[in-house]
Amino acid sequence: AHDSDQRRHIVLIGLMGAGKSCVGRRLATRLGWDFVDADSEIETAAGCSIPEIFERHGERYFRDGERRVIARLLAGERPQVIATGGGAYMDAETRAAIARAGVTVWLRADLDVLVRRTARRDNRPLLKKDNPRRVLKDLMEQRYPIYAQADLTVDSADGPLEASVTRVLQALQ
Ligand code: S3P
Repeated sequence: AHDSDQRRHIVLIGLMGAGKSCVGRRLATRLGWDFVDADSEIETAAGCSIPEIFERHGERYFRDGERRVIARLLAGERPQVIATGGGAYMDAETRAAIARAGVTVWLRADLDVLVRRTARRDNRPLLKKDNPRRVLKDLMEQRYPIYAQADLTVDSADGPLEASVTRVLQALQ
């Protein structure tokens, strides 16, 4: 059984475009908590952008860094809202670490929403080649059964993000 004090953080998981960073930031504001974005922390630690990390060192290297950064964030004493990159929760060690230190919230969105939201920025190496819709669809099939291990699942539909934030807060009650 988990000690509720040990599970102090709120950890957002979900696919690229699910709104983890935006919802996470607003959620933290509403709770009066700190917010931290794991992808940004990885970029700071590496001194370059995620596309550059993939390009220069490959995905394996990125995943190793991601695992370390998330472990460090989870070790923080102060409760915080942590947005993770879409692949982070697929790592068994990271999944176990998250389960020990936080309540996991899966922001789930449908394919059309993910395609639309990810098209706005060109910062995701996994969507660079090939057809983004097909990549996202494959990732949904691979990852959703694992994401389903989250403590809570919240719909991150189109529309005002504030509505998703409210749904997360309701689910947490
Ligand atoms: C990835 C998602 C990205 C980023 C990297 C890999 C993934 O984060 O970590 O490009 O494997 O789904 P977002 O989910 O924040 O876009």
